[in-house]
Amino acid sequence: MNWRKLRIFLATVLVLCVIPATRYYQIDVPVLRYLRGSSHVDRLSLHLSGEFVENNLGTQQNADGSVTVRMIAQQYLFVPHCILLPAGVTVHLRITSADAVHSLTFEGTEHAVKVLPDTISRAELLFSRPGQYKTVCREFCGAGHYAMRSELKVVPRDQFPALRPEERGNCAAQ
Ligand code: CUA
Repeated sequence: MNWRKLRIFLATVLVLCVIPATRYYQIDVPVLRYLRGSSHVDRLSLHLSGEFVENNLGTQQNADGSVTVRMIAQQYLFVPHCILLPAGVTVHLRITSADAVHSLTFEGTEHAVKVLPDTISRAELLFSRPGQYKTVCREFCGAGHYAMRSELKVVPRDQFPALRPEERGNCAAQ
């Protein structure tokens, strides 16, 4: 093998190693974000327009039986502060940050979602049993990081449709 071929080979190996590494460590790569499409959102106008305006946050039922949850992570809480979900139903989570990098986790589960400013993080979650979970930030995000926690209530699947829309969106309204 001559030097030119060897250099091309090594460059290819390097690139092939770097791409999975950025995914594994959840490093924000603007090029990949661009290629993935419409996950950009402007942190400065979250509260003014678009899907993260206040009355659009929380849990919404979809026609196919799944639910969509929209949340904002900000120093130092998750909004809505208390969310409510049906058990055994696919949850499409859409979350963004209003400031720093956060990580949304649900204590006692494997779910972990990295949350970046100006980006919509998407995840599919499933909570098979009713219960209450602490929603905890696992990425150091500033002085109040250790107090950044909210709540998730998972209710039996058949109870969920009977709830009023404002109760579905935010269990603090119950
Ligand atoms: Cu948000 Cu730590």
